[in-house]
Amino acid sequence: NYYAILMAGGVGSRFWPVSTQEFPKQFHDMLGTGDTLIQKTFQRLSHLIPKENIFILTNERYNDLVLEQLPEVEQRQVVLEPAMRNTAPCILYASLKIQKENPDAVMIVAPSDHWIEDEAAFSKNVQSAFDYCEENDALMTLGIQPTFPNTGYGYIEFNKEASEEIKSVNQFREKPDYETAKEFLAQGNFLWNAGIFMWSTKSVIKAFQNNQPELYKLFESGIEAYNTDTEADFIKENYPKAENISVDYALMEKSNNVFVIAAEFDWNDLGTWGSLYDKLDKDTHSNAILNAKSLAENAEGNIVRAPKDKLVVIDGLNDYIIVDHDKTLLIYPKGKEQDIKQLQKRIKDKY
Ligand code: GDD
Ligand code: MG
Repeated sequence: NYYAILMAGGVGSRFWPVSTQEFPKQFHDMLGTGDTLIQKTFQRLSHLIPKENIFILTNERYNDLVLEQLPEVEQRQVVLEPAMRNTAPCILYASLKIQKENPDAVMIVAPSDHWIEDEAAFSKNVQSAFDYCEENDALMTLGIQPTFPNTGYGYIEFNKEASEEIKSVNQFREKPDYETAKEFLAQGNFLWNAGIFMWSTKSVIKAFQNNQPELYKLFESGIEAYNTDTEADFIKENYPKAENISVDYALMEKSNNVFVIAAEFDWNDLGTWGSLYDKLDKDTHSNAILNAKSLAENAEGNIVRAPKDKLVVIDGLNDYIIVDHDKTLLIYPKGKEQDIKQLQKRIKDKY
């Protein structure tokens, strides 16, 4: 009864120039391991979940990339969104589809672009969550020990007294402001939301029905078409009508049956070049070099990504992102990595 939905619809715009709208980061080998991020995620999930029960949700423009990179996946497992509507619509849509195929399904919702080190620990945590969700009406999250007041994450307040592995959640708060995040950190019983969720299809559909009745009605109206020949027509016409909202705001902040398991694995959501730098092996001067050969002197803390046959020589440069990709060479301070997202728009007409 185990299912997975893999969210692969984001663009990863802070990883420009490697990640682009035509070819987003989940379809790149960002770690230099030989596998793309979506391939790594698929492998990780397939330890627990039958391959034919793993669904990929993505924009229609990435259909070919998905089928090419995941040859074990059949077209029926790829749900093609005609418009980007954030995570709530895609999760509800897939849950209804799976529920129709198997009313007793329990599922995991996973982003396709995260870094997880210890696969055995990951499987163990997910298995505990599945066991619990099979028996209980629960929305399960995985919590990460926070290290600084990051305002880009969701925060999960768990019950202080709880000693058991599965803790009940007092409050889920998506992307608090800096001051609030600082307070949360000081309190000691807050975890970051890893963005990975587990629940039975019954529970998540019920939560949508209660908290997002319009969205529920919109997608439920097509239930007869799901998993049939007319599904493509239904989704084309109705998916764009869905509200653009993330599951964190749509369900997690509003529900009172949220639970958390503190993750026993190392996690990184690979949002920026800097977060990738943190996870890569470094040379003796703390430079992370991907693919290229390099000679770095008087240079520290850089992340360099260039084609395999390129020799990169650096002298006198510290804490920079240096990326040679296609028609672009980016040399940009790590401290300004958040601005890369905006940069793209400004250079569009320069090519
Ligand atoms: N299929 C599909 N369609 N996938 C999508 C869409 C969409 O319209 N929008 C986003 N995704 C995918 C992204 O590719 C990513 O893998 C995942 O859903 C989460 O979306 P993000 O846009 O990266 O969310 P976030 O980083 O702002 O916040 C979420 O993740 C944090 C941890 O990384 C929240 O769940 C936070 O609470 C959490 O801390
Ligand atoms: Mg993210």
